[in-house]
Amino acid sequence: MAKILDGKKIAKDIKDELKIQIQEWVKEGYRAPSLCCIIVGDDPASHTYVKNKVLAAQYCGINAETIKFESTITEEFLLDKIKELNESDIVDGILIQLPVPDTMDERKVCNAVSPHKDVDGFHIVNVGQLCLDMKTIVPATALGVVEMIKRSGIETHGRKAVVIGRSKNVGMPIAIMLHTDKKHESGLGMDATVTICHRYTPKNDLEFFCQNADIIISATGIPGLVKANMIKPGATVIDVGITRITDAEGKTKLVGDVDYDEVIKIAGAVTPVPGGVGPMTVAMLMHNTFQAAKNLREKTVKIS
Ligand code: GUN
Repeated sequence: MAKILDGKKIAKDIKDELKIQIQEWVKEGYRAPSLCCIIVGDDPASHTYVKNKVLAAQYCGINAETIKFESTITEEFLLDKIKELNESDIVDGILIQLPVPDTMDERKVCNAVSPHKDVDGFHIVNVGQLCLDMKTIVPATALGVVEMIKRSGIETHGRKAVVIGRSKNVGMPIAIMLHTDKKHESGLGMDATVTICHRYTPKNDLEFFCQNADIIISATGIPGLVKANMIKPGATVIDVGITRITDAEGKTKLVGDVDYDEVIKIAGAVTPVPGGVGPMTVAMLMHNTFQAAKNLREKTVKIS
């Protein structure tokens, strides 16, 4: 049976470490890091995600506030608000919960956030720096996957990895870090050989690539996509997918991309859903917020 990679436990460890580091930072005379979350509209799942982020921030000693707007606001109004937060000396991190309403250009909104305060790592400058192996703010889910692999002692150097899903916020940054040279500036490189699969990868090829992989990371939102016959014995399987389904009894539950009950019999290590990558995303967002606060340190006035 595979080892279960307990994202909840690892995320708690990270938040506990951050809490101590932030206490020390405040003792040094700096104000506590601060995070501002903006949510536009009334999507219940988005509101739950933001609530969890704010709770995690408070746990770590980060000041967090949420600004809620009706979905009827204009893009211009939102951009003005972001500008105000960019210029604020008491805000270190800004997060615009996605998706924004269809009336807005998501890329324009993400690029409006100062790259220094972009704790999601979605700004074009941060994405570019990641692609160039430079130190930067990395999207939290991708960073969570990498951190989980590292903290679980899973070897990646020279290993074969498959990333299923090529989204710019998840699949792409994971693939970048997996294949990057560890010696490069970011320090996040994992020296693996990476294959990226997506909706146009023929099923037979997907199976072939996965069967030969030491590490499989699936981020598609297609329940049951990754089956036991696709797993090399002992491989690591990281499930980033999270989909709410209704079972035969009419109960709703969250499931990942991986056929967990079968894959666990073959794999060497596997992440559960829920309780795997999800909590890691929130923990790494807190890491990014503290990082942003430290990067803005020169501007931060010591409270003596
Ligand atoms: N919506 C779904 N995932 C995310 C995320 O990681 N960050 C933001 N800002 N919005 C999201």
